[in-house]
Amino acid sequence: MASSMTFDKAAALRVEALYATPDVAATRVAAFHALDPRPGEQVADLGCGPGFMTRELALAVGPSGRVHGLDLSAPMLALARARCAGLPAVELAEADMAAMGLPNGSLDAAVALQSLEYVPGVACAVAEVARLLRPGGRAVVLDTDFGSVVWHGRDQARVDRILVAYDAHIAHQSLPRVLGRLATEVGLAVVRREVVPILNASLHPNTYAHGLALFIRDFVVGSGRVLAEEADGWLAECAALDAAGEFFHEPQPLPVCAAQAWLRRPPFGRRGGRQRGGRSCGRGPIGSPTGCCWSMTTTWPSSGTYGTARCPCGRWRSTAPKRVGPASPTTWSTW
Ligand SMILES: C[S@@+](CC[C@H](N)C(=O)[O-])C[C@H]1O[C@@H](n2cnc3c(N)ncnc32)[C@H](O)[C@@H]1O
Repeated sequence: MASSMTFDKAAALRVEALYATPDVAATRVAAFHALDPRPGEQVADLGCGPGFMTRELALAVGPSGRVHGLDLSAPMLALARARCAGLPAVELAEADMAAMGLPNGSLDAAVALQSLEYVPGVACAVAEVARLLRPGGRAVVLDTDFGSVVWHGRDQARVDRILVAYDAHIAHQSLPRVLGRLATEVGLAVVRREVVPILNASLHPNTYAHGLALFIRDFVVGSGRVLAEEADGWLAECAALDAAGEFFHEPQPLPVCAAQAWLRRPPFGRRGGRQRGGRSCGRGPIGSPTGCCWSMTTTWPSSGTYGTARCPCGRWRSTAPKRVGPASPTTWSTW
């Protein structure tokens, strides 16, 4: 299903306010540490929105690095431009993350926070991440599993109707459940999975739940999916629950926000990797451009020796590569 959310100026300002809350800021901190941007690196912020993460990345990579902030929304980019003013590393572009127009292998790292879930052709966007990352490059993605949201209500059926109507604002309601497969299929190794929870037991104006409730109300009513009186009745119930100390919005029992860290696998038989062992899957000799192999080890001068049980042609299903050689600061084992 395609996303029906458009980030015009008003929506961009609302997202900016919502994402400035400490609740959302904490999720960015988790993603930032997982990505571990370093001085001089080339990094992309995919669906950069108002530029909160873009700015932090620019400060981390410094003037010798580069942060490509991409977004489809001009009003979002205007906010990002203002937020990143004076930071020479930042380059902002109105572009689709499924077709970014950067050279192959040109990125050390990429981050996509709450943005992949909006992309109808998400598999193309993940493939684009794999194309752009250099071997050993890192990516961190964070998306909401909207199918797991707990939003307490006395009229729970009404809450559920409203949340189902809100699902239409994105293209993929439970993207974290399939992200690992999408990444593996394009040669990325999933090296870390993490739940990044948000718990709101109050409707204080500086909470995620407060801004989100208003956002949900306006989307479901504005898109004609829910009558205004029903949505306003829900908001009134949220306020009443808050007054009674019973407000509860939480991403449990299953994760709402699931972050994954990906690592671009070293290519097989290319760029100086020395391959040993292995067994052909039958579709091409080991080390050939089709690179079919099984249980192979590849030694890289700078990043150590990897063993892998993946067959790139897809005939054999993969397991994540394991580093079996000496440690190196650029291997995935540092994640
Ligand atoms: C919820 S906002 C998140 C913004 C930002 N990542 C953050 O965490 O602050 C989602 C953003 O993804 C952008 N977006 C959606 N689809 C996109 C696509 N195909 N290419 C680039 N940006 C996209 C939207 O315009 C919007 O700015």
